[in-house]
Amino acid sequence: MHLHRYEKMWLMFGGGALLLFVIILTVNAYAMGNMPPSHMQMIEPSKVDETPPFDKPGLRQIGENEYELVMTSFVFGYAPANVEIPAGATVHFIVTSKDVVHGFQIPGTNVNTMVLPGHISRVTQTFAEPGEYLILCNEYCGAGHHVMATKLIVADEGKE
Ligand code: CUA
Repeated sequence: MHLHRYEKMWLMFGGGALLLFVIILTVNAYAMGNMPPSHMQMIEPSKVDETPPFDKPGLRQIGENEYELVMTSFVFGYAPANVEIPAGATVHFIVTSKDVVHGFQIPGTNVNTMVLPGHISRVTQTFAEPGEYLILCNEYCGAGHHVMATKLIVADEGKE
């Protein structure tokens, strides 16, 4: 069978692209471990206060300058509010909603997740720079949406 030169080139380009995509996908999945989200934790939204870990919200040290911060969101705020951590701390945020869909965003960082009633959102961030970080809701949740915010205070000095 005779193929025109351009047709041959085009076929090789197409086949090559396909092969490249399969390789990228394989490396992503098996070498880098990128998978669709799984083990998504659910919670009964009317029983947040009785369900661990939300029965004991707050900051808990789990390693050297590593913390778990269990928070709830509700119309129109977050609890606990104004949490203080030392500089350089890695914080694993564990957040759920007591009522409607809220957002959980810390501008200037990669923290930006939806908080859905019945679901537990997890996001991890290291705070190298001391200062006050705004935590805000970026999902319209009602009349007080625009005031729904709190602060994360990253203390200048190390662990105390
Ligand atoms: Cu909560 Cu907007």
